[in-house]
Amino acid sequence: MRGLKDKILIVAGGGSGIGAATARRLAEEGAILAIGDIVETAAQQVAASIVGAGGRATGHAFDIASEASVADLIKATVDLHGQLDGLHVNAADMRALREDTDASDISFDIFDRTITVNMRGHLICTKQAMPHLLKSHGALVYTTSEAAYVGEPTRVSYAMSKSGINALMRHVASRWGREGVRANAVAPGFTLTEEIDAQLPQDARETFFTQVRSARLVSPEDIAATVAFLLSDDAMSINGQVISVDGGRLMRA
Ligand SMILES: NC(=O)c1ccc[n+]([C@@H]2O[C@H](COP(=O)([O-])OP(=O)(O)OC[C@H]3O[C@@H](n4cnc5c(N)ncnc54)[C@H](O)[C@@H]3O)[C@@H](O)[C@H]2O)c1
Repeated sequence: MRGLKDKILIVAGGGSGIGAATARRLAEEGAILAIGDIVETAAQQVAASIVGAGGRATGHAFDIASEASVADLIKATVDLHGQLDGLHVNAADMRALREDTDASDISFDIFDRTITVNMRGHLICTKQAMPHLLKSHGALVYTTSEAAYVGEPTRVSYAMSKSGINALMRHVASRWGREGVRANAVAPGFTLTEEIDAQLPQDARETFFTQVRSARLVSPEDIAATVAFLLSDDAMSINGQVISVDGGRLMRA
């Protein structure tokens, strides 16, 4: 992909799953990574594995729910490398998802946590990164979800948070596109991260497979490839879009 070599990029929520795969892919493309995660050891392990493979990366303690913590990650990156060229905003509280029920039953603790991390956190990252992205003519890619579109009887907070990310992304593309900052979102379908793969019963795997129209389930590397493309110069004319990577499960107009 064109234009990723030597770019200074942050993966916000890159300690596992899709974020870790994205950090690895971006490093393979020659980018210099700062990986932030609430699980500091996980961020550092991903960074160490990139460095071990000949890439360039640092791992950082980072809480997307805290504006001070987001500011620290961005400052540390810019202090170290002089600029910021792009951001993959990926963190979500996947633990809260387990108790995310329906609108008649939802605990407001779960709702507030989900909105704070998944949606407000993405706004904080945008706010803190924008001065730097305006200087570098950089790009943002958010991780949303098919949950924003599909209509589901449960996980009301998660779907609302992801719809909010889509709105944020379109706002950013509209507000700063002319000034050279692009914003897009990737919408994974059910994705077999290492953690999900280790826990998923065979019958659930088969059920998910009946819902896709491709020959296998989606992998974190599939999402990573799309994020890398959207951050690259090859995607220079893609702005304000949600790109589904879901094996054709949801065919949107
Ligand atoms: N796996 C799927 O099937 C799937 C489908 C659709 C969308 N997604 C989205 O993809 C993204 C990644 O999910 P994943 O499946 O790789 O899960 P994951 O749990 O492996 O990744 C989420 C990462 O965010 C980090 N995180 C959580 N709270 C944080 C906080 N407050 N501050 C900083 N980091 C924090 C976690 O520690 C973790 O490393 C999420 O936005 C999720 O909503 C996943």
